[in-house]
Amino acid sequence: MRRKIIIDTDPGQDDAVAILLALASPDELEVLGITCVAGNVPLELTARNARMVCELAGRTDIKVFAGCDRPLQRKLVTAEHVHGKSGLDGIALPAPVMPLQEQHAVDFLIDTLRAEDSGSVTLVPIGPLTNIATALQRAPDIAGRIGQIVIMGGAYFEVGNITPAAEFNIFVDPEAAEIVFGAGVDLVVMPLDVTHKALTTRPRVEAFRAIPGKIGPAVASWTDFFERYDKEKYGTEGAPLHDPCTIAWLLRPELFIGRFINVEIETGGAFTTGMTVADWWRVTGRKPNATFIGDIDAEGFFALLTERLARL
Ligand code: RIB
Ligand code: CA
Repeated sequence: MRRKIIIDTDPGQDDAVAILLALASPDELEVLGITCVAGNVPLELTARNARMVCELAGRTDIKVFAGCDRPLQRKLVTAEHVHGKSGLDGIALPAPVMPLQEQHAVDFLIDTLRAEDSGSVTLVPIGPLTNIATALQRAPDIAGRIGQIVIMGGAYFEVGNITPAAEFNIFVDPEAAEIVFGAGVDLVVMPLDVTHKALTTRPRVEAFRAIPGKIGPAVASWTDFFERYDKEKYGTEGAPLHDPCTIAWLLRPELFIGRFINVEIETGGAFTTGMTVADWWRVTGRKPNATFIGDIDAEGFFALLTERLARL
């Protein structure tokens, strides 16, 4: 049974790889649309980049929507220092030809969740949660109609990547994250705890580059670019492929290990705003609300990714 998904994204090289992995898996995943949000780079660029990735995959039929251009309450924080000015630095891709959809991403989310069978649509947010939170605020009835939300975001044992306490996607819009984590929807979280174990290595990147056609070399060039930041900062051999972990979970959940726990979002901390306070050891007695993933079979993940990208 194919799973219907909507990817909510701020491309971002790792977002691009997640989109490609989803488009390379049509037997398991039906991409109903891609909704873009401001995050790694401003909205105009994320909406441009998402279309460029669809065109790279030869999928100009995919509907791409622009959504919120700033967080619910805070000033937008972007991450050009990681992803480059364009958000997709690493290779020069032609400007997109396929048009953006007229409809706002939030209206597309609401209308689709109301039109599709209840529980049949999975949301895959891999950027700040502004679009998802806005949809839930504007149409509270959709909470009961969302099948599952699988997000990339947060951190506990791995701590933060944009501040000492917070991971970028949550940090950009903590109020939005608070709404999503409190919506009572079946929530799966891919935090830095697991994505920092999905590290590129030379052999893994060369396996991408060796894929016949243009997709593999493009992915290798993107990872070559954005890996420089993480290698410099963490002294690791490679960079974490954060966002594709969400799609890989949908395809092969057995590659991951996590636990169903309570996760709260800090929105008022002097130093900890945007922190996902994960009760991994279940000491609070607070109601569990998220399957928080802590481990991955990295070899299996990269084998899946390489095999699927070769299908495009
Ligand atoms: O912290 C990693 C996350 O922030 C990833 O989704 C990356 O694309 C950036 O949006
Ligand atoms: Ca992202």
